[in-house]
Parts: sequence; structure tokens; C-alpha cells
Amino acid sequence: MELFDSHAHYNDERFETDMDEVILNNFNNGVKYTTCVGYNLESSKKAIEIANKYDNIFCTAGISPNDLNEDTLEEIKQIGELAKNKKIVAIGEIGLDYYWNKDNKEFQKQVFIEQIKLANKLNLPIAIHTRDASIDTIEILKNIMPCNKKGIFHCCPLNVELIKEGIKLGYYISFSGVVTFKNAKPESAIKQVPLDKILIETDSPYLTPEPFRGKRNDPSKVEFVARKIADILEKDYEEIASITLENAKKIYNII
Ligand code: NI
Repeated sequence: MELFDSHAHYNDERFETDMDEVILNNFNNGVKYTTCVGYNLESSKKAIEIANKYDNIFCTAGISPNDLNEDTLEEIKQIGELAKNKKIVAIGEIGLDYYWNKDNKEFQKQVFIEQIKLANKLNLPIAIHTRDASIDTIEILKNIMPCNKKGIFHCCPLNVELIKEGIKLGYYISFSGVVTFKNAKPESAIKQVPLDKILIETDSPYLTPEPFRGKRNDPSKVEFVARKIADILEKDYEEIASITLENAKKIYNII
């Protein structure tokens, strides 16, 4: 079985001591591809370093709404330079997070828009992080600064309205281990997504799926996201694994 974890953070400090071992192990266990996602300048540099070391790891560069500071607009220029690396497959994760940060909404929007402009300049899709900010996120993608190459709603909130709007705009919807959580109720959200727009991810080391909650997450556990989706859609696990792998290759433009 071959899987594509469309969003993971091997660049997180929790992989510092054993990353190479984990990567090899995951590869041997069927995680054929992984996209290592940046969330600020440092982690984007590290993502590129990791991707350059492994053929089947790709990477992104971007500044997340939870990593803003007074130098952010300057840093976006550096992200633009980094993003010329050949293993870069998207600008991200970028977006809006009004759950963790309510006091700088205008700045968050400005930074999001600037990075979509960058994606358009480089002809790349975007990896979107959106939390408690569905209306503003859709407004930007639809009316203010559409992304030409579209992109992915990463760890998509299980919000049917947001998903409907995202699909209408041509975006992919990526589900994480959250769909396996006991109180998640992911059925209607998952059924909303056409098969050719569905992706799976771990967001590791975070969001460890059941039955491993509490432990460090890693890309091998993307299997449990695929299994849960297969259950809900009454499909074979193998089919979901292969559909999501092909979808990820398509949006990330991997040949
Ligand atoms: Ni992430």
C-alpha cells in the first residue's frame, strides 16, 4: 500500500533526534510521499533542507497566521527567495486563525493576501490554515486575492459550509487525525467532498489519530485517517489510499 501524507512537520523540534530513522521507517511502511510544511522562516528553511535530502519528501514555505511579528512583511520577501527551490510544491501554511489570535485580524489578512500574491507570481498553489475564520478566508479567496493554482484546505475544519465554498472555488480538502477523534462527527463533512478533491494528512507531530492519541504523531499514522474515511464512504481502504495519493500528486504537481 502506498500513501501520501499531504501535510506533516518533520521540521518540528520533536523530530530533531530521530528524524532520519522515522522517515526511513515510514517509507518502509508505505508512506511513499510526504509534504513537509513550513510555518515561519526557520521552519521553511528546514523543510527545504529535509526535502533536498529525500527524493520523496516535498516541501512548502510560508508564514502561518500564528507566527506573525513586526518583521513579517520583510520575511515574506525571503520566503519568495526560498520558494524558488525545486522541491517547493506550495506556499504555506498561510491563512487566518481567529481562534489563537483575535487582536490582529487586519494584519493577518494582509499577510495572507501578500503570500497569495507570491504564490501567483511563482505559479504555485497554497496550503491554507483557517480556524474560526471561514467567512474572511472565503472572501479573500473568492473576491480579494484568488490563487490561480488553487490549493488545499489543510486540516480542514469539519464545517460543511466552509467545505462547500472551498469546493466551489476548486480547492482540495485535506482531513487529519481529527476525523478519528471520539466526538468529532466527521461524516457530513467527509461526504461533502468529491473523491477527486479529497486529501489525507497527519499534521504530525500534532493531532495524533485514535488509537494513539497522546503519543507523538508521525506520517505513518496517516493510514488511520484513510481508514476512517474509507469506513464513512463505504469504500476499500486501498482505494482511498490510492485516490488521495493521486490527488496529492496532482495539486502539488508531482510527476
Ligand atoms: Ni501544520
